[in-house]
Amino acid sequence: MASAFGKLILLGEHAVVHGCPALVAGLQRGATASATADEGQRLQLGDRSCHRGDGSDLGQAYDSLLTSMGRSGISVEVSPELPLGVGLGGSAAISVAIARALLELDASPPEEPRTAQDSQQVFEASMAWERIFHGDPSGVDSAAATFGGCLRYVRGESPESVKNAVPLVIAVAVAGPAAETKTMVEQVAKLKSQSPDKFQKTLEAIHALVDNAQLALQAGDLSGLGQLLNYNQMLLAGWLLSTPEIEHAVALARDAGALGAKLTGAGGGGCVLALAGDRADAIMNSWKNEGLECFLSKVPASIGATTPGGISA
Ligand code: MEV
Repeated sequence: MASAFGKLILLGEHAVVHGCPALVAGLQRGATASATADEGQRLQLGDRSCHRGDGSDLGQAYDSLLTSMGRSGISVEVSPELPLGVGLGGSAAISVAIARALLELDASPPEEPRTAQDSQQVFEASMAWERIFHGDPSGVDSAAATFGGCLRYVRGESPESVKNAVPLVIAVAVAGPAAETKTMVEQVAKLKSQSPDKFQKTLEAIHALVDNAQLALQAGDLSGLGQLLNYNQMLLAGWLLSTPEIEHAVALARDAGALGAKLTGAGGGGCVLALAGDRADAIMNSWKNEGLECFLSKVPASIGATTPGGISA
């Protein structure tokens, strides 16, 4: 059984599309998949199913992924473990789990260690899948789904593992119905074309926040990191990516003692994250009292920082 991670963008969503770095943390769950040789070329995704190239988006995405891996005559069954379209990287996790299931089909024994070349292939297959749904993805979701852990990701470069000195406790709430990533990315691109100079200044500010957040993570400065999350939320709201529901969930978390809180992913709806410190219970209770679906994710402290593998987008 192959598996892949979901993700939480700590800082830098949207800016990463335009060349800024993003900081991303892997979630412990994402998707699992298994593949079998079968000329039917069917993809079963939870309770949805399609066939390779059957005209549906899913069928097209499956076709692109198989083409990228140079495979045919394979059916795959996937169990998604995350809600889709809420900023948790569920779609990239599905594609990485499928790509790994295809590799497992060839491997003997099936669980043999993954090589950097495998990772590059998996990453490219995931990008081929993501392009069907998201147009022009930066690759941050696919990189997080492939490698997990804490990463600094710059479009077109190999992701860098970031050593977080202390564990992170992150509370996540679904603040509202999802918006399409593609639509939100296009909305931001429109702001860029309307006011390129102003847009560039915001990009530079986000770049500085990401650099400082990386230093804070490495130094174990959680309160500094929390402040930087809050500043990033302000700039994302300036790009019209926040909503009243997101602002409300963010305010609840901060009032309950979160060190920082912001939207995560494409915005316009979907999830918020809060750096919880020792206030996880209070934050979760405050969200639950308002009927918000929420969960806790823990990122253990890193043992050593290494480059996770040679991929380039
Ligand atoms: C979506 O998870 C992250 C965005 O920055 C889009 C992308 O990077 O492709 C909004």
